[in-house]
Amino acid sequence: MIETLESMYQEAKDRLDAADSTEALEDWFRAHLGRKGEIQLMSRKMGEIEPADRPLFGRRVNEVKQSLQGAFDLRSADVKQREMNASIARDALDVTLPGRRPQRGGLHPSTRVMRDIYRIFGDMGFQIYRSSDVVTDQENFEWLNMPPEHPARDMQDTFYTTDENVLLRTHTSAGQVLAMREYHPEPIRVILPGMCYRNEQITARSEIQFHQIEGLAVGHHITFADLKGTLTEFAKRLFGENRQTRFRASYFPFTEPSAEMDVSCFQCDAKGCRLCKYTGWLEILGCGMVHPVVLEYGGYDPNEYSGFAFGMGPERIAMLKYGIDDIRYFWSSDLRFLEQF
Ligand code: PHE
Repeated sequence: MIETLESMYQEAKDRLDAADSTEALEDWFRAHLGRKGEIQLMSRKMGEIEPADRPLFGRRVNEVKQSLQGAFDLRSADVKQREMNASIARDALDVTLPGRRPQRGGLHPSTRVMRDIYRIFGDMGFQIYRSSDVVTDQENFEWLNMPPEHPARDMQDTFYTTDENVLLRTHTSAGQVLAMREYHPEPIRVILPGMCYRNEQITARSEIQFHQIEGLAVGHHITFADLKGTLTEFAKRLFGENRQTRFRASYFPFTEPSAEMDVSCFQCDAKGCRLCKYTGWLEILGCGMVHPVVLEYGGYDPNEYSGFAFGMGPERIAMLKYGIDDIRYFWSSDLRFLEQF
C-alpha cells in the first residue's frame, strides 16, 4: 500500500508540472486532493494495513497531502500570474498614442466682418432686426418709393417666383417699412442684415447673392448731421481711428437727399495705391435721409418724424479689408480660401 501511495505521489507531482492553465489545475485538484481525489481515498484505506504499519502510513499520507497542497499553491500562483500577463499583453490599450486632432473650423470672412459691424452698431444702441429673404413687390420696391415702371427697378435685376408679387429681396432695404410698422410710434435704431439676390452675370466683382447690412434710424429731429456723425464714427471704428470720410451726392428713390460714403484708403493712407485705384478713397456704403413717402408707408408722419438709412455690403468690405480680389471665392466653399481666415 505504501508503494502505491509513493507512486501516486510521484505521478501527481509530474501531472502538476504539466498543468498550465487554471482549468487544468482545477481538474488536477479534483483528481488528487479533492474530497474524492485519490490521495483522500488512500487515507480511508487504513483498515487494509497491518496495525504496526498504520502510524507510519498515516504520517506518510499526511506528508504527501501537505507536500502536494504546497506544490499546488505555488503552481497556481505561477499560472495565475502568467495568465494575467498574457491577458495584459493581449488586451493592451496604449494610452500613450496621441489622439486624433479634431478639425477646427473658422469663421467665414463674411461672418467675421458682419460681426464686427454688429458690434460697432450695437455699441451705438442699434438692435438687429431680421426680416425674410423672400419678400413682396411692395416690400422690395413700392414701399421704397419705386412704383411699378419706376426706372430705378432696372438697376436691380430681380429673381421673381412664379408669383410675380413674390421675389427674392434685391436689398435689405426691403425690411425698412416692416421694421417701421412694427416699431411705430416708437423711435427706431436697427440694423437689418441678410442675404440679397440679384439676377446678374457672375463675375469677379458681382455675385447673384451677397450680404447687405442696412441701418435705419427714425425719430424726432434726426438730421443729416446725425447720419454723417454716426457713419463717420462707424468708419473709424471699423477701419481705424485715422480714417477720413467723405460724402458724395447720389440718388436712391427711398432717400432724399442721398449720398455715398467713401473712406480714406486704409492701405496707402490715402496716398494712392492699387486698392483705391490711386484715388485715395474707397466707396463703402449708400445712405440718405429716409424719404417722406417711405416714412408714410411705415406709419410715421413725415411732418413729425425724420430718419436716416444706409446700406453696405460686407463682402465688399471683406474684400477691401483682406485684399480678396474675386467675390466668387465667398461661396465657392474652397478650403484653401476659407482656411486663410
Ligand atoms: N439699398 C441700397 C442698395 O442696395 C443701399 C441703400 C440703403 C441706400 C439705404 C440708401 C439707404 O444699393
